[in-house]
Amino acid sequence: MTNTNTHPNETVDPSLVPKKRLFTGASLPVVGLGTFGSDNYTPAQVAEAVIGAAEVGYRHFDCASVYGNEDVVGSSLQTILQRGIPREELWITSKVWNDRHDDVLASCRQSLADLQLDYLDLYLVHWPFPNSHGKGVDVHSRDPHAKPYIHADFLHTWRQMEELVRLGLVRHIGTSNMTVPKLKLLLEDVQIQPAANEMELHPHFQQPELFEFVRTHGIVPIGYSPLGSPSRPSRDRTPGDTVDIEDPVILQIADRLGLHPATVCIKWAVQRGQVPIPFSVKRPQYLSTLQAVVGVPLTEEDMAQISNIDRNNRLIKGQVFLWKEDQSWEDLWDVNGEIAL
Ligand SMILES: NC(=O)c1ccc[n+]([C@@H]2O[C@H](COP(=O)([O-])OP(=O)(O)OC[C@H]3O[C@@H](n4cnc5c(N)ncnc54)[C@H](OP(=O)(O)O)[C@@H]3O)[C@@H](O)[C@H]2O)c1
Repeated sequence: MTNTNTHPNETVDPSLVPKKRLFTGASLPVVGLGTFGSDNYTPAQVAEAVIGAAEVGYRHFDCASVYGNEDVVGSSLQTILQRGIPREELWITSKVWNDRHDDVLASCRQSLADLQLDYLDLYLVHWPFPNSHGKGVDVHSRDPHAKPYIHADFLHTWRQMEELVRLGLVRHIGTSNMTVPKLKLLLEDVQIQPAANEMELHPHFQQPELFEFVRTHGIVPIGYSPLGSPSRPSRDRTPGDTVDIEDPVILQIADRLGLHPATVCIKWAVQRGQVPIPFSVKRPQYLSTLQAVVGVPLTEEDMAQISNIDRNNRLIKGQVFLWKEDQSWEDLWDVNGEIAL
């Protein structure tokens, strides 16, 4: 089943898209458009998709300085605002990259300037490590200054994040690529709590423990690579990776509902309680995604069946952020319940 049978003038009323409430009482649309074009799409294509997505009804955009396109995405946001969509209807997220953990205010001000905004709705620490890498490097590349997670250092970064809220530059702050042990430590020391945690979430990687942990602590789970990132570059592919949109359970539900398997993943995500941020520059795709969110829900049986196909298949393993020779990528994710040093 394809999703190319949408009409170019079709739209979804944004007021029909459900919202998720944050601890502050603010609410964010339960689906957002990802803006990481990776190796496949140019900044100009992503910027065009931002305008197109707003036209079809998206109000939530997931940005980051490291995506290298915030300046052109900012021009698109200006276009959207000039066309009459009020700023308060938009939800814009950005992230501080790993090489700016000591310089969060300047990094945020740069993102605000590029995105042509006075404030961000959500600003995230992109990774809990200050370890960086060049664009497009392969998985064997390492930052010679790479470090493990050092809580005092992360707290230093978090204090700067909190300052952004006090300055009115951002409405909420949050984390990304965290683990339960790291979040437990952070929550002991925060003055302003994380409103959201961005994490990899798709049917073959459901992260049940972290998912429940964040929800229990009033932190909204935002799910990246919600379709299993089917077009990710080869450097992010590992033998043994599974393909969510080819799973027999997803295919059978998609077939019954006459939907693309990708949109079944999105329905599952929203009904489970996470906020998926799928990437697409193709109007029929991003339109059908939004239509799926406001369409007929999956049944309880569908949801139960999908909850049983978790394969613990992490796709974005993060090898480039490792800090020691002969380490395994699992060390980035504290799989033994302790922070790896
Ligand atoms: N916080 C973090 O560390 C982090 C990490 C990774 C990603 N992210 C965020 O998450 C976003 C999404 O992640 P992702 O791009 O890795 O994976 P994804 O959203 O799971 O997959 C995107 C791909 O799925 C296909 N697709 C999208 N909508 C579709 C539809 N309705 N029907 C059929 N196919 C569809 C497109 O493939 P084709 O282009 O081939 O058509 C698209 O390129 C990123 O853009 C970024 O904003 C954050």
